[in-house]
Amino acid sequence: MSARAIGGDPPLPLRPMREDDLDAVMAVERRAYPFPWTQGIFRDCLRAGYQAWLLHDGATLIGYGVLSLAADEAHVLNVCVDPSTQRRGHGRRLLRTLLRIARAQGAQRVFLEVRPSNPHAVALYHDEGFNEIGRRPRYYPAANGREDAIVMALELMPEPEIDATRDAMPETGSGPDPRTPPGAPAEPAR
Ligand SMILES: CC(C)(COP(=O)(O)OP(=O)(O)OC[C@H]1O[C@@H](n2cnc3c(N)ncnc32)[C@H](O)[C@@H]1OP(=O)(O)O)[C@@H](O)C(=O)NCCC(=O)NCCS
Repeated sequence: MSARAIGGDPPLPLRPMREDDLDAVMAVERRAYPFPWTQGIFRDCLRAGYQAWLLHDGATLIGYGVLSLAADEAHVLNVCVDPSTQRRGHGRRLLRTLLRIARAQGAQRVFLEVRPSNPHAVALYHDEGFNEIGRRPRYYPAANGREDAIVMALELMPEPEIDATRDAMPETGSGPDPRTPPGAPAEPAR
């Protein structure tokens, strides 16, 4: 597992995802993934207190990220950018902002799963310092049955001067509860 400081880009203007955002979120989710999460999975994440953040451009939803936190570990559950606005750096900045939030909440390691058939996401995660640490056989549904998951991990370096929660939460007080979530979502991470 490699260690990586999180820095560089200014924080994105994110706001917490709410249940009344889920129609818009699902519209992006269905456009972006061949096997999208259901609305119920997003709802479970929100009710479990996971970190779930939206990136907006005015009234237009650009993307979102979902992160679970438990003790000193974080799990990136979803990073998604609307196909109409991909390849403009939003995915990388969204991921970096999630990592800042994880670090600010005390995480020392971050894990995620990704499909081998998603080379763009794999490239992004490698580029941000994640390393493959294993595989979960037949983890995902796929067109021809099941597909393995690549499990990736990143060790975060201490950056005590960064208060990412403050930077990323313009609407203070309305976000998901940053406490350790009480339960897991109904479906596995992608
Ligand atoms: C993966 C995803 C979040 C990347 O978001 P994005 O805004 O398009 O990506 P960025 O513009 O920030 O690019 C970041 C890096 O990702 C990789 N990448 C993203 N799209 C790529 C493409 N079409 N071709 C090649 N590389 C690509 C590159 O390494 C890129 O770095 P570079 O621009 O320096 O070459 C986006 O493609 C997406 O939402 N896909 C559908 C949902 C998904 O698969 N999420 C990941 C689940 S594990």
